[in-house]
Amino acid sequence: MARDHGFHPVRIIRIVDETPDTRTFALDVRFPYRAGQFLTFKVSGTLRSYSMSSSPDTDSEVCVTVKRVPGGLVSGWMHDRLRPGDTLQATRPSGSFCLRADAADRPLVAYAGGSGITPVFSLVKSTLATTSRTVRLLTAHQSASSAIFREALDALAARHPGRLDVRHHLDDRDGLVTADEIRALADAQADFYVCGPEPFMALVENTLVAHGVAPEQILVERFTPAPPEEAPAAPAAGTVTVELRGDRRTVPQRSGETLLQSARRAGFTPPFSCESGDCATCMARLTNGEAKMRVNNALEPDEVTEGWVLTCQAEPTTPDVTVVYDD
Ligand SMILES: Cc1cc2nc3c(=O)[nH]c(=O)nc-3n(C[C@H](O)[C@H](O)[C@H](O)COP(=O)(O)OP(=O)(O)OC[C@H]3O[C@@H](n4cnc5c(N)ncnc54)[C@H](O)[C@@H]3O)c2cc1C
Ligand code: FES
Repeated sequence: MARDHGFHPVRIIRIVDETPDTRTFALDVRFPYRAGQFLTFKVSGTLRSYSMSSSPDTDSEVCVTVKRVPGGLVSGWMHDRLRPGDTLQATRPSGSFCLRADAADRPLVAYAGGSGITPVFSLVKSTLATTSRTVRLLTAHQSASSAIFREALDALAARHPGRLDVRHHLDDRDGLVTADEIRALADAQADFYVCGPEPFMALVENTLVAHGVAPEQILVERFTPAPPEEAPAAPAAGTVTVELRGDRRTVPQRSGETLLQSARRAGFTPPFSCESGDCATCMARLTNGEAKMRVNNALEPDEVTEGWVLTCQAEPTTPDVTVVYDD
C-alpha cells in the first residue's frame, strides 16, 4: 500500500493581503512540516503547489502565500473565490528545500525573486529562531508595491541585529539584478538557497558557481520546471504503455524521456505538480519492466520495492514498460 500521498481537507482561517497581487492564506492544518516545504492543492482536478511562508518554529498558523499569475488558473481562482471558512483539498507537506541537518554554524545566504520569497521567509525565520547562524538575503521585486514581506523582513532584521542582513532590490529603482549584487553576499562557507523566476535563478546559480561555490552548496526550489538541457529525446527500441482511468495506450520509447513525458505524448493529461521529485502527485505503479528515478524525495524504499515510481523522474531501463496510474 502506498503511504499517505493523498489529499485532505484544509479549512481557510483567514486571508491577508500582502501586496495588490499577493495574498496569504492561513490554514487549519494539523500536519507537522519543515521550513521551506510546500503543500499541493487540488482545485477542480488541477494540481498546484504552494510553499509555506510560515515557520513551524515561530508561527502558530500554517500559511501559504500566493502571487496571482496573470491569466493563471489556480492562483486567480484562489484570489477571486476563496473566503475564510472555505475548504481546500491538500496533500501533506513535502519538499526538500529545507535547512540542512549538518549546517552547524555555517552562514545562510538566500536569493529570492518575486513569490520565491515565500519558502525563503520560512527558512529565514526558522534559522534565526533555532540556530545562531547569520543570514544574508537578497530579495528582488519589480517595485516597492510588489515587495512581499518587505516590512516583516525589516522588522525581523531589527529584532536580530548583526544576524540578518536584508537587501531589497527593486527593478524600477535599481535595474535588473546584477552578478555583482549576487557576489556581494557570497561566502565560501555558506549554504545557499535560491528561489524565483527561471532567469533570476539561472543568473544566481551561474554567478555563484563561477565565483567558486560548489554546486552541492546551492539548494534551489523551482516554481516552474527547469528548461530541458539536452537535445529532444531520440527514438529508442521498445515501448511505454500507460494506463490512466481505465484507458490504455502504447507509444514507442524515446531515450531520455520520463514516463510522465511519455504519458503526455500518448495523449493523456496525467497528474503532476512539482516535476522535481518532491510531491508524489505524479506517482504510478510499474506493472511491467523497470525504470530508474533521477530524483526521489517523496517515495519510501518499500513503496519503490512495490513498484511505485515518480513518473516525472522515472526513465525506462528495460525495452518495454507498463505504468498504471491509480484512480
Ligand atoms: C514546489 C513549488 C512551490 C511553489 N510555491 C509557490 C508559492 O509559495 N507562491 C506562489 O505564488 N507560487 C508558488 N508556486 C507556483 C504555483 O504552483 C503555480 O505554478 C502558480 O501559482 C501558477 O499557477 P496558475 O494555475 O495560477 O497558472 P497557470 O494557469 O498554470 O499558468 C498561467 C500562465 O502563467 C505561466 N506560469 C505558470 N506558472 C508560473 C509562475 N510560477 N510564474 C510565472 N508564470 C507562470 C504559464 O506558463 C501560463 O502561461 C510553486 C510551485 C512549485 C512547483
Ligand atoms: S510531479 Fe512532484 S514528484 Fe513528480
